[in-house]
Formats: sequence, structure tokens, C-alpha cells
Amino acid sequence: MKVTESYDGAIQRTIYTPQEIAAAIERLAARIASDFRGQPLLLLGVLKGALYVVSDLARAIARTSDGPSEVIVDYLCVSSYGNETRSSGEVRLLKDASESVTGRNVVIVEDIIDNGLTLEYLRALLDERKPAVLRSCVLFDKPYRRRVDIPLDYVGLECPDEFVVGYGLDYQELFRNLPSLAQLQPWVFHS
Ligand code: IMP
Ligand code: MG
Repeated sequence: MKVTESYDGAIQRTIYTPQEIAAAIERLAARIASDFRGQPLLLLGVLKGALYVVSDLARAIARTSDGPSEVIVDYLCVSSYGNETRSSGEVRLLKDASESVTGRNVVIVEDIIDNGLTLEYLRALLDERKPAVLRSCVLFDKPYRRRVDIPLDYVGLECPDEFVVGYGLDYQELFRNLPSLAQLQPWVFHS
């Protein structure tokens, strides 16, 4: 059985198809490429959730005709949710970036923003290191439960106030490699 078939029974509805996600990535890439035209750019993906966003975005930027002079991809790894479906508000840095951000043009690339505490923590952490430019890019925006006012420079798609999975987002580490963004059946959370 294909993995996606075993996922099928767990999915209540598809929120965004792979095609809609790909189109959103292209739009984000076009804007970032034009804002950093002719300049070096450091894309800093927030793992694990942003693993597909940052890799697809980096390649989409490379396909634009008049973009940054160079693109470097780096990662840091944080955890805030544990195995719950609501953010704990407590963000842990599991792995720091390996590149220095000082004096560089940095775009933080996140999968999704909900209450905003993860991005607030990351922006404060990176701001201290004095980047030349620090911007935030999120693929999915859940604007309903924001607890902090975070400047978002690049937003892909609005997301309903539901716990969602796929395209990098997990529930207890599962469903990350689902190609669409989806809402799960309620029974999944009780099994
Ligand atoms: P925030 O701190 O509430 O803004 O949440 C940010 C992080 O929580 C994201 O980077 C995700 O990793 C995770 N997250 C938020 N909403 C969801 C969701 O619906 N499904 C899976 N993970 C989520
Ligand atoms: Mg994340």
C-alpha cells in the first residue's frame, strides 16, 4: 500500500492541494528575489516543519531571472509543540544555525505561524547577532490566536483555525510527507 493511501483514511479534508502550495511558493520566491535583487541572501529554515518550504523556496528563487547574487541555505531547529496540538509557548532551541548571520541579509523561513511565540523568539535571538536585514517568511498564516505582534514580510496562504498537517507539518511526527495541507479526522487525536 502506498503511504499516501494509509494517510487517506485519517484526513478529513484537504485545505490546500500540492498545486496551490507550489503556486504560493512561486509567489513568495518572486517577491523575495525582487527584494534582494543583486544582493547575497541567507535563507534560514526553521526545522523540522520548514524543510520542504525552504528547499522549494530556494529552488524557486534560483529559477527567477533577476534575483539575489547568491543564496545560502541554513537551518536551525526549534521545538515548541512537543506532541500537543497547541503551542506550549515555551520555545526550545534544539540546534542553532551553523552560518553567522552578522551583517547578512537574512530571511527566516517558517512553515506556519499561530500564536507567534516561535517567530518572536527566533527574531529576538537573531536580532542580537546584528544581521544587516532580518525578514520573516511564513508559508501558512493562522492569524486567529496571535499573542504577539510579529512583523511578517512574506506570507503565503491563510490557514483556518484548525490543527493542520502535511507539507512539513506533523502530528506526533506523522503526516509531514503528505504533499497537501490537510485537516485530520478527530479520531486520529484519540488513537
Ligand atoms: P506558534 O509559536 O504558535 O506561532 O507556532 C509555530 C510553530 O508551531 C510552527 O513552526 C509549527 O511547527 C507549529 N504549529 C503551529 N500550528 C500548527 C499546526 O496546525 N500543525 C502542526 N504544527 C503547527
Ligand atoms: Mg515550525
